Amino acid sequence: MHKVTVLPYNETIEVSDKSNLRDSLDRAGYTVKSTCGGCATCGLCVVVLETGEDNISDIAFEEKQLLGNVFHLTKERLSCQVDILGDITVDISAHLPVKKVTKRRTKQQAESIIQERKEKAKDRPKKQGGFRRPKPFKTNKEDS
Ligand code: FES
Repeated sequence: MHKVTVLPYNETIEVSDKSNLRDSLDRAGYTVKSTCGGCATCGLCVVVLETGEDNISDIAFEEKQLLGNVFHLTKERLSCQVDILGDITVDISAHLPVKKVTKRRTKQQAESIIQERKEKAKDRPKKQGGFRRPKPFKTNKEDS
C-alpha cells in the first residue's frame, strides 16, 4: 500500500501498488476532469506532481505527444497514465469546481451610479462646432 497526498485538500489516501492515479482519485471521491475516459487523448486529467517523481511510472509515448517532454519543468502528468509505485503528493487544484459568482446591484446602487454618470457628463466640456455642413456640389456648368 502506498500513500497519495492530495493537495490542496491536504488529505491522504491509501492505494495499492501499480494502481492508476486517476482511478484511485476517482474511487476516493476526487473529481478529475476527463472526456476520453483514460485513453490519453483528451489531455484534461493533468495533475501536478509535488513529490515522489521516482515513485510513479515512466512517461508513455501517448503522454509525450499530448504534454511534450517538459515534465522536469512543469511537473505535470496525465493522471490516467500514471501508475503509483510509492508515496507521492499530487496537486489537483486545476480540477476544483469553479464557483460562478454573480453580483447584482440593488435599485438604490443602480440609481446612485446613474446619478454619478450624469454629474460627470455635466462636468465634461460641450462639443464645440457640431457637425460640418455638407459641401455644395462642384460642377463645370455655370448655374443659370
Ligand atoms: S483522461 Fe483523457 S488524457 Fe487522461
